[in-house]
Amino acid sequence: MAKITAGIFTSHVPAIGAALDLGKSTDSYWQPVFAGYEPTKAWLREREHRPDVVFLVYNDHATAFSLDFIPTFAIGCADQFKPADEGWGARPVPVVQGHPLLATHIAQSVIQDDFDLTVVNKMDVDHGLTVPMSLMFGQPEAWPCRVIPLAVNVVLYPPPSGRRCYQLGRAIRKAVESYEEDLNVHIWGTGGMSHQLHGPRAGLINKEWDNAFLDKLINDPEGASKVDHLEYMREAGAEGIELVMWLVARGALDPAPAHVTRRFYHVPASNTAVGHLVLENAR
Ligand code: DHB
Ligand code: FE
Repeated sequence: MAKITAGIFTSHVPAIGAALDLGKSTDSYWQPVFAGYEPTKAWLREREHRPDVVFLVYNDHATAFSLDFIPTFAIGCADQFKPADEGWGARPVPVVQGHPLLATHIAQSVIQDDFDLTVVNKMDVDHGLTVPMSLMFGQPEAWPCRVIPLAVNVVLYPPPSGRRCYQLGRAIRKAVESYEEDLNVHIWGTGGMSHQLHGPRAGLINKEWDNAFLDKLINDPEGASKVDHLEYMREAGAEGIELVMWLVARGALDPAPAHVTRRFYHVPASNTAVGHLVLENAR
């Protein structure tokens, strides 16, 4: 049977992708950011940790979906997802290979479990998805695994609640673990941590709140799922709401993680506090 063995959590700052693509990852500003991901990259290179499929929870930033049309939760069931042109041409990264059979199995299971996903059969993927891929896998010719994208609306009010995201994660785990093929599946939660890109509070970073959120996400995920919109907005900035996506991934993992394999937090990186966790399920 397929099994969710680990969850990876990371910010998805677009400037991180640009730094990598433009050969600036060893510049003094970026070096500590990339260094923070080295232990995870090494862990992922070990045979038993390499995923066959990543279920990647991210948000589209009005790239594939315009502001005319935004599903709350959209699952990518296509064969392939091309890197999107976000205004400067597509990133020079591989095309993402999907897993239509597992994706449609998950869609069926989760929708019949009362979560109304939108099924997407054609979609380009923006920095929300490609930057986490680059952070974990570097710059290969082809990505080493298949990816099922789950796009969550956090750009047009109202976003889904953290509680709903957490419960969706549990339904995703049930769906994955009822798929017959033996597959090592990861679930990734991306976006966050504290950041605000516009208005008088632009540049807001809240290290104390972010670190308390990491503690809670690890040790008290139910409690973390109860954080409401206004708290994210007030404490972590308007774009801090991206953290609800981490709760989808957390919901698909054991309530008490078997292993906290990696924890990393770093400021500065563009306008965002960079947070990163790897949590493993019991084997
Ligand atoms: C930045 C962060 C984001 O999450 C994003 O989507 C766009 C920009 C930033 O830090 O600049
Ligand atoms: Fe973002």
